[in-house]
Amino acid sequence: LDNGLARTPPMGWMSWTAFYCEIDCVKHPTGCINEQLYKDMTDRLAEDGYLEAGYHSVHIDDCWSEMERDSNGVLVANKTRFPSGMKALAKYMHDKGINFGIYEDYGTKTCGGYPGSYQHLKTDAETFAAWDVDYLKLDGCNINLDLMPIGYPEMGRELNKTGRPIIYSCSWPAYLVDQPQKVDYNLIGKWCNTWRNFDDINSSWKSIQSIINYYDHNQDKHIPTHGPGKWHDPDMLVIGNPGITVDMSLAQMTIWCIWAAPLIMSNDLRIIGKEFRDILLNKEAIRINQDRMGIMGRLVANTTDIGLYVKPLSSESPEVSLSFAIAILNRNLSTPKSVQFHLKHLGLTNQFGYRVREIWSGKDYGRKMPHDEVEIRVNPTSAALFRADPLAGNEPRFEK
Ligand code: GLA
Repeated sequence: LDNGLARTPPMGWMSWTAFYCEIDCVKHPTGCINEQLYKDMTDRLAEDGYLEAGYHSVHIDDCWSEMERDSNGVLVANKTRFPSGMKALAKYMHDKGINFGIYEDYGTKTCGGYPGSYQHLKTDAETFAAWDVDYLKLDGCNINLDLMPIGYPEMGRELNKTGRPIIYSCSWPAYLVDQPQKVDYNLIGKWCNTWRNFDDINSSWKSIQSIINYYDHNQDKHIPTHGPGKWHDPDMLVIGNPGITVDMSLAQMTIWCIWAAPLIMSNDLRIIGKEFRDILLNKEAIRINQDRMGIMGRLVANTTDIGLYVKPLSSESPEVSLSFAIAILNRNLSTPKSVQFHLKHLGLTNQFGYRVREIWSGKDYGRKMPHDEVEIRVNPTSAALFRADPLAGNEPRFEK
């Protein structure tokens, strides 16, 4: 969507995959959907380095409203769990430099059974603008699928009419996984800044792997329809959650970065371990993800265990040649794998070679010529992430 927003992949924190629809704040006082949860995460983003690294939004997901609209048909935040109201919560975030994201659904009800926006699109767009919302995730439960190409653009127009810049995330194609002939990403990209297109993630390797498989299979459809203002969203980062190891975290962060995917975490930032935080905050990985060209990396070589991806990056010396990111995923569940590759086979042909570095280990491979071999060992359910910057002929030749 060409509204000047989301020129690089959105980054932030969203509640769903870590806290779901937990509304029992008596039993779960620090893990339920209430204003304190979002204030806590706002504080963590602002104080623990996340905001500085680029994570600048906190997103409320489902289960935030009362079960009924008010007598004017306006949505109301749950009065017990959000006693200060949404505008005050938005202010709390804005005062700390954090953007405010909210969730609704195009259907008659949200997926969790709360009031949906169907037949209330205009009112809801105006309500969100009045609450100073910066980002709307509009889900697609409880609606006739044939209405999606009508309703999603309609909400887009209503948001636009409010005059408030609101990033618009559409779950539209996620509901058409079984009817791919109905998915037109050019149309969706015309109306939405980002969109979910596959199943919900959960905190398991199986789930991460199934998303990667889906994206691998559909990359020829995804790559040309992805870029500044219009991002395919493979769903939240589950790094830091029980069930996700450091290796799995490296794999998810690597692949989400090489895809230029939204980096929206869903975890508990109040108790996250340092090893996971360091992965989420890695500057070089984020720089690859946020590259201004916004090109989705491509799977260029594939075996049962290994996937090798290449993403062109804008270069500091574009007169020489582009920079590249290279990712190597080891899908094997138990065996580390050694992988060798030649830069020229990946399309890296600059005649003076590249300075090659691996991001997670920090290892500098020095200058590598297009015909040189690069080798790395990758743990099971993990990934390596390289950056290759083109060198000019007159730069000193340094070897390691
Ligand atoms: C759907 C979405 C999830 C989450 C839930 C909320 O399943 O895909 O991301 O928003 O609804 O009910």
